[in-house]
Amino acid sequence: MRLTFTIQRFNPEVDSTAHPQEIRFDVGRGMTVLDALIRIKQECDGSLALRYSCRSAICGSCAMTINGSEKLACRTSLRKELERHGQITVAPLRNFPVIKDLVVDMAPFWRKIRDVQPWLSPGSARRREGGGGVHSHPQFHNVDACIMCGACVAACTVHEVSKEFAGPAALAKADRFLSDPREARASTKARLSALQGEHGIWDCTRCNFCVEVCPKDVQPMEAIIRLRRASLERGMTTTGGARHILGFASLVEQQGRLNEALMPLKVVGLAPRGLLHILPLGIKMFLKGKMPNPLGHAFPGLGHLKDLIRRAKRALPPV
Ligand code: SF4
Ligand code: SF4
Ligand code: FES
Repeated sequence: MRLTFTIQRFNPEVDSTAHPQEIRFDVGRGMTVLDALIRIKQECDGSLALRYSCRSAICGSCAMTINGSEKLACRTSLRKELERHGQITVAPLRNFPVIKDLVVDMAPFWRKIRDVQPWLSPGSARRREGGGGVHSHPQFHNVDACIMCGACVAACTVHEVSKEFAGPAALAKADRFLSDPREARASTKARLSALQGEHGIWDCTRCNFCVEVCPKDVQPMEAIIRLRRASLERGMTTTGGARHILGFASLVEQQGRLNEALMPLKVVGLAPRGLLHILPLGIKMFLKGKMPNPLGHAFPGLGHLKDLIRRAKRALPPV
C-alpha cells in the first residue's frame, strides 16, 4: 500500500522555521511508524534525523508526536493510525527544543530528573512491613516502569507554559524514592520539602495528559497526588497549593459545596498584603454576579455528605 507521510522537518543549518514535508512511500503489513521512518531514511531521504535504539518499547528514545499525540514510534502500528486518523503525520516531541527534524534536546529533561536526586539517600533505613524486596515492590505503584521517553513532559499543559515546572517524569521519579522502604525518614522529609516551592508538585493542574500518553502506565499524575498527600500528612501546609486543597476540602465539608467568596481567603489568609492582592478579583466577581453569599446555606443531606467524607478519609491508604 502506498501512503503519504507528512513529516515535520527542521535543519538549523538552513531553515529558520520547521516545515512539513510530504513523502509517498510503499508500506508493508505489520509495519510500525518507526519501521516506516527507518525505511524512508534508507530509501528516500538520508538526511532525515530521528532517534531510536531498541525498537522494542524499552529504551524510550523514539518518542515523537504521531498524529498529534505523543507516542513511541516503535510500538505504533501504521495500520491502526491510519484507521483512526486517515493519515500519518509525524513531528518531534512538543515543548522540547528541536535539534534536527525529529530529534529533540533532552538536556532540560535530564536536568529535572537530576534535580529530584533520583538515588537513595544514605541513613538508617525506614522500616516498613513487607519492605524486604525492592525490585517491582508494589509500593512503587509501577513508577519504576518509567523508560524516560519524555512523552509525558511533551504532553504536559503546565510544562507548555512554564518550562521550569519540574514535570511529570521527574516528579514520578521523586515519588519512586519516597516509596522506597530503604529511604531514610529524614531524607523523605527533605525530598518533599524541596518539591514545595514554585515549579514543584503544586503547579500540576491535574489535566491527566501525562497519564494518557505514558506508554508504560506510570501514571505520573497519580504519583504527584501521592507526593501532595505525603506533604500534607507531614504538615507541609503553608504553600498556596496546599492551602487551596485544604480550603476546598474544608468548605465542601462545612457547606456541601465550594464557596467562591471564601475560597480566596482560605488561600491567602487574612494578611493585608494577600487581601490586597485578591481584591481586584473579588471586585470583578462581585460585579459579574459570581460572588455567592459568604455564609452559604446548608444543603439538604449535608449530614450524609459529611458522613461520606469521614468514611472516605478513613478508607484512604497510608502514603
Ligand atoms: S496532570 Fe499535571 S503533570 Fe500531568 S500533564 Fe497535567 S499538569 Fe502536567
Ligand atoms: S512517565 Fe511514562 S511518559 Fe513519562 S518519561 Fe516515564 S515512561 Fe515516558
Ligand atoms: S526504539 Fe526504543 S523505545 Fe522505541
